[in-house]
Amino acid sequence: MSASPPNEMVIQSDSPQRSEQVGAALGRLLRAGDLICLSGQLGAGKTVLSRGIGAGWGADPPLSSPTYNLVHEHQRERDGARLQHIDLYRINGLADAATLGLDDILDSDDIAIIEWPERIADYLPQAQLRIDIELVDEQGRDLIINARGERYLCLLNALRDAALARS
Ligand SMILES: Nc1ncnc2c1ncn2[C@@H]1O[C@H](COP(=O)(O)OP(=O)(O)O)[C@@H](O)[C@H]1O
Ligand SMILES: [Mg+2]
Repeated sequence: MSASPPNEMVIQSDSPQRSEQVGAALGRLLRAGDLICLSGQLGAGKTVLSRGIGAGWGADPPLSSPTYNLVHEHQRERDGARLQHIDLYRINGLADAATLGLDDILDSDDIAIIEWPERIADYLPQAQLRIDIELVDEQGRDLIINARGERYLCLLNALRDAALARS
């Protein structure tokens, strides 16, 4: 962890439950308009992490894998805030992005969690928290968390504190 630059943190996860916990810690820290991008191969754990983020943020019912619809909207009961869970695996180029209303989502106060952001990389704002999930072994995952922009540096530092407080 000490070798990472200040805008990066690597968390080692040894189970889906641990990944959900990390996600939940992040979800508790989210604010209106935040953008979280999740990369990694199929089965890496992007949806598992998303579920944790949603749980920490307060989504009920929980986030699931957005199979048919690329965008799943979640609302939080206590304040009506919204979280958009977006899976771009099946997107067919930028024209689709317009159809999905991604611009509106990114301009709004909704939180956006995007799986497969590389599908439309140039289209997304630079300022974001990006998490790359790398497979280590069957249950092992490296969560490589990278902050771009001031808001996301704050978020990363808060997550670092939360992660340290836990271990
Ligand atoms: N440490 C871990 N973190 C997250 N998922 C894990 C981990 N270890 C094993 N898994 C398994 O890997 C799979 C990840 O699936 P999923 O989250 O749908 O992947 P993705 O959305 O990246 O395609 C699940 O079956 C989960 O149980
Ligand atoms: Mg997924």
